[in-house]
Amino acid sequence: MPRLQDKVALVTGAGSGIGFAIAERFAAEGARLLVVDWNPEAAARAAETIGRGAIAVQADVTQVADVQRTIDQGREAFGRIDILVNNAGTSHEKGPFEGVPEAEFDRMFDVNLKSIFHYCAAISPVMRKQGGGVILNVGSTAGNRPRPGLAYYNASKGAVHNLTKTLALELAGARIRVNALAPVATETPLLKTFIGGDDTPELRAQMRAIVPLGRLAQPRDVANAALFLASDEAEFLTGVILDIDGGRSI
Ligand SMILES: NC(=O)c1ccc[n+]([C@@H]2O[C@H](COP(=O)([O-])OP(=O)(O)OC[C@H]3O[C@@H](n4cnc5c(N)ncnc54)[C@H](O)[C@@H]3O)[C@@H](O)[C@H]2O)c1
Repeated sequence: MPRLQDKVALVTGAGSGIGFAIAERFAAEGARLLVVDWNPEAAARAAETIGRGAIAVQADVTQVADVQRTIDQGREAFGRIDILVNNAGTSHEKGPFEGVPEAEFDRMFDVNLKSIFHYCAAISPVMRKQGGGVILNVGSTAGNRPRPGLAYYNASKGAVHNLTKTLALELAGARIRVNALAPVATETPLLKTFIGGDDTPELRAQMRAIVPLGRLAQPRDVANAALFLASDEAEFLTGVILDIDGGRSI
């Protein structure tokens, strides 16, 4: 039996990279999908590729009205939302912390953290009424094993991990499980911001060298972990920050 049969999942930032891989994997396991992205073409393309009735929704996850609209749309279309994946995220240009403009700091925390504030506030009453649910937040190895040059990205992901644990405690009584995924450098369009410079083969090799299993993550590695945490197989797991990092964080 498919592992997410009859579940409804909303995945943010699903127009690209990790979010797309998660949405596609969930749909292949029987879930009905809301593909949320602020890039309407990317969302539409992703939903079409996924098929199986996936719905594309254009929304900026930093805007509370957009967030509420995505949840309303999901409930109208499918009657419920069982799984929320707070995946949309962004990074700032690699460099010393003194050089990061205030506007970049704000953008980092708005997209990576405030989006979770908006989404969890909006989904909590829905999941409580349904008798439970699953929330997955996409963190990063940057949140528990930070490297220099990405100070405020690292800080935002550290906050995502901490928030995940508190929400897990506050929502446990409502049978809402809250976990986080912490991938190492993953082959997506965002990767170049973590590599920095001109993203040369040498810089990529340096990145691979810090991963004990000897390669970067692929979006499918993160999607496989997300599938497990979202499924009933993980019914006793909450507040977990799952490293998907080939041993990097050991
Ligand atoms: N790629 C990596 O190396 C890596 C490693 C660890 C964690 N992550 C995290 O994984 C998540 C996904 O990143 P990715 O690598 O797939 O990046 P990506 O750039 O491929 O995809 C991010 C998607 O989010 C969307 N998005 C960005 N801002 C948005 C907003 N305000 N509203 C709605 N959608 C928005 C983008 O349009 C894009 O489709 C992020 O949270 C990122 O921090 C990535």
